[in-house]
Amino acid sequence: MSQFLAYQVSEGDDGAYSGALINQSVSELPQGEVLIEVHYSSLNYKDALSASGNRAVTRQFPHVPGIDAAGRVIESSDNKFAAGDKVIVTGYDLGMNTSGGFSQRIRVPSGWISALPDGLSLKESMIYGTAGLTAGLCIDKLINSGLQPGDGKVLVTGATGGVGIIAISILAALGFEISASTSKDEHREKLIRAGAADVLDRSLFSEKNSKPMGKEEWAGAVDVVGGVTLVNILKTLRRGGSVAACGLVESPVLDATVMPFILRGINLLGVDSVEIPLKSKLDIWNKLSVEWKPKDLEGLCTEINFAQLSDSLDTLLNGNAVGRYILDVASE
Ligand SMILES: NC(=O)c1ccc[n+]([C@@H]2O[C@H](COP(=O)([O-])OP(=O)(O)OC[C@H]3O[C@@H](n4cnc5c(N)ncnc54)[C@H](OP(=O)(O)O)[C@@H]3O)[C@@H](O)[C@H]2O)c1
Repeated sequence: MSQFLAYQVSEGDDGAYSGALINQSVSELPQGEVLIEVHYSSLNYKDALSASGNRAVTRQFPHVPGIDAAGRVIESSDNKFAAGDKVIVTGYDLGMNTSGGFSQRIRVPSGWISALPDGLSLKESMIYGTAGLTAGLCIDKLINSGLQPGDGKVLVTGATGGVGIIAISILAALGFEISASTSKDEHREKLIRAGAADVLDRSLFSEKNSKPMGKEEWAGAVDVVGGVTLVNILKTLRRGGSVAACGLVESPVLDATVMPFILRGINLLGVDSVEIPLKSKLDIWNKLSVEWKPKDLEGLCTEINFAQLSDSLDTLLNGNAVGRYILDVASE
């Protein structure tokens, strides 16, 4: 197939950004060692930012977003990969300033590519996608900081979103007791099915207060929200507890004091799933493929086609996402 379909975002004369399905040819793809036939991509908050023209994510338009892709190698000039290999690409520059996974073809450096682990299908790898990899990294960091099932409640914020719901599912599979913070009480049942013991309104965490610390509540936390919410989590972690911070949907600002750090010995663990070494991604993919795999991974996702992509990206951008969205790039 010399021509293939890709979802390209452009800036209109009025300064508004919109996406359209276009025909592209392989010669238009960026240079790279490995050409991949994409089977599935997935939707992440960063894709919604790119598709809405956010220049902190994507500097130049027209652009094909999609920070995740899974598919089969068509050709490779690096002998680490051969035609037919099933592979996953997440992060690095894919979909940011390199043409991304909302396309039937990508061409990328071999150093960005993970072989699909046994125990995962291409579709399952995209149900996880960057969101799942990030949730896995958060949990890995919490466990390495000493968190164990039985230590007490673990809070997950942005619970109905991609990172949140996968974090809940993995933590539940590992035997942790989870409290889920959400704005969407109508999805309470879904969060309980995913493994939350308790569902809390997110307004409980988002109000600013001047107290340096609060009652000790959480043995650990996964936070995708940042801002005042993260500050309130720091104030209410139990002695020695840790929060893995990976997101900023509320705010990137952290207006905190050192008090809970120096009086309760708490830990703020930063999580990046984009630029870490490929080996670190592979370690998490291996865990996600077997021991950490939630019972109903498919139940966490909505499968969409190109025709539904624009609306789904808006849903994410507006904070209304529920679970994971995967894009079947074979269907228009
Ligand atoms: N560090 C990394 O490497 C990395 C990797 C992946 C993602 N991230 C970041 O993690 C965050 C979540 O990503 P995602 O893919 O899970 O996004 P998502 O699917 O859009 O989910 C985000 C969820 O956060 C909640 N939320 C939205 N706006 C909010 C607000 N103003 N205040 C509080 N909560 C709000 C909503 O859940 P409820 O309605 O249930 O509260 C929403 O569904 C993003 O900031 C993303 O950039 C970072």
